[in-house]
Amino acid sequence: MAAKITNKGGIWIMQTRLIGIVLIVGLIATLLCSCTPLGATPSYPPASIAASTATASSITSAESQTPAVTDAPLPYQDASLPVEARVKDLLGRMTLDEKAGQMIQAERGSASPAAVTKAALGSVLSGGGSTPGDGGPEAWLDMTQAYQQAAMKCRLPIPLLYGVDAVHGHNNAVEAVLFPHNIALGAANSPELMKQMGVAVAEEMIATGIPWTFAPCLAVAQDPRWGRTYESFSSDPALVTSLALPYADGLLAGGAIPTAKHYVADGGAIWGTSKAIGYHIDQGDAAIDEQTLRHTHLAPYLAMIKAGVPVVMVSFSSWNGVKLHEQKYLLTDVLKGELGFQGFVISDYNGIEQLAYGTLAEKVAAAVNAGVDMLMETGLYAMALKAIVSGVNNGMIPQARVDDAVSRILRVKFEMGLFEDPFLQKRKAGGFGTDEHKVLAAELVARSLVLLKNDGILPFKAGQKVFVTGPAADDLGAQCGGWSLSWQGWTSDNRKTGGTTILAGLKLAAARAGAEILTDSADLEKADVVLLIIGEKPYAEGVGDSPDMSLTGKLALDGNVPALELAKSSEKPVVALVVAGREMVISDELKSWNAAVMAWLPGTEGQGVAPALFGERGFTGKLPMPWYRTVEDIGKQEAEPLFPIGYGLEQK
Ligand code: GLC
Repeated sequence: MAAKITNKGGIWIMQTRLIGIVLIVGLIATLLCSCTPLGATPSYPPASIAASTATASSITSAESQTPAVTDAPLPYQDASLPVEARVKDLLGRMTLDEKAGQMIQAERGSASPAAVTKAALGSVLSGGGSTPGDGGPEAWLDMTQAYQQAAMKCRLPIPLLYGVDAVHGHNNAVEAVLFPHNIALGAANSPELMKQMGVAVAEEMIATGIPWTFAPCLAVAQDPRWGRTYESFSSDPALVTSLALPYADGLLAGGAIPTAKHYVADGGAIWGTSKAIGYHIDQGDAAIDEQTLRHTHLAPYLAMIKAGVPVVMVSFSSWNGVKLHEQKYLLTDVLKGELGFQGFVISDYNGIEQLAYGTLAEKVAAAVNAGVDMLMETGLYAMALKAIVSGVNNGMIPQARVDDAVSRILRVKFEMGLFEDPFLQKRKAGGFGTDEHKVLAAELVARSLVLLKNDGILPFKAGQKVFVTGPAADDLGAQCGGWSLSWQGWTSDNRKTGGTTILAGLKLAAARAGAEILTDSADLEKADVVLLIIGEKPYAEGVGDSPDMSLTGKLALDGNVPALELAKSSEKPVVALVVAGREMVISDELKSWNAAVMAWLPGTEGQGVAPALFGERGFTGKLPMPWYRTVEDIGKQEAEPLFPIGYGLEQK
């Protein structure tokens, strides 16, 4: 049985709904007592849980007395009542417009706080790089508090859910600690540290007023040409599950709300099937049988749902030609029926607009009827809201489907304590950008390094002169990759945030080891060994779909070619360090290297790379996916990989 996910303050069990006697008594008494009349804005939150408990205990005698005018909380405001009672009570108070508002997630760029109040929106997101002010924590907190205050002004003050892609740290925020991307975490394979990472990321999110992250990604990537390969922990579903679960547990323990995405088989699409302009495989079609879908791609969701994950995000991709955003069998029959998922399903970024129908209203109806509960509609959110209302009024969308969707959304908001803590002030105030988080991130970097080849040149030794070259040596953006301060990340050496480059870490380690780092080409002759640090440009999603995965192709860092040539012409021993979001094609270059290490996308704490190179610790990373010799070998069971999944030399 998967670990029970614990949210703040206790074990949270989503599987059973206890409708106790307390509920019936509470509801009857509530209707009798003279609490805040319907329609007025109740005083929220109730004076105190103790006060409402006192009110509850006196309710049983209320029938015989003229109900006193009290500000007793309404059932939905009463934290002592079972969640289902609170959901049922609140749902019963909502108008159709308010219900439709809860089902909408707009983007901060298109919906102001005033719009949240006006339309009673349930959620707002920051898309990748959609940052307020200077992007620092104060600017984020000011913004998210303004949105929540706006939500509290609604006729029914329902806490707003603000969501971000904190996919390897609070990566939209300047000065946040950016952890290695998921593929590196797959190589590190440290479940015990995943929970700590979840808590750390939650702390940095909560510090900026943000409770919800669209992570972890449960993709089981099969084709490394996919631009989202680095968002996958592994091509092995068991490894994905073993890392995603503790990570989600850590997020919840830290007071944040995780999202299992992208449901389902986003990592199973076939190359060349994408219909998105300029993409090749991202958002493509998983042309696979149901057995493969279940044991490879659905498997991680089973554990996450059993553990109570609150949100599932739908994949842009298709399964056998049908877009997931309208796959009723998978979204409703399997996810909510067979697997018993009790949270809510959110569409991906304007994903419903990709559905092949004439009008937005038809697309909204198709998605909602298939099982989508909240629509991530960044620009057309007002039209989408109206489409839900009109869809119910004209029969395209059953009222019961809307009530189920809203109940799911409210359930998560109640379960996550947002009604009692809309401004996240009761959550443990953790740190933002702390040394503790940096140490944890650097440890994960160190554990993620995979030693691919070593003829004995490693570790570097005292007295050695190490000449460092290559475009990924001193570029914080290159080592962070996509989803870093912006959607596509950044490259160049102008620092937009704090962090330690790989080169800076090498200099510190060399000093400790009594070795010397050289970077001026005039010093090449003096060097004992060349450390070649090359890799990929940052990218995200289909922008990173790579036909060749080569060190000199369209996604390769511009400085790769001259660095490769310099290393080769130096006639010195060469150690190559690859900084990339996937296992690139290196079969030819590898032959001329004395040693090679895969460093993946380490994030802001590049100091985690040097210690193993200098022998301060061993290499323990193992490949989380097969490393193909050529692009043509991808997916061919009979083709022998350059390195198999699980490969990694150990240097004690
Ligand atoms: C994107 C991604 C998804 C992300 C969402 C919000 O297009 O597919 O992973 O969570 O939009 O940024």
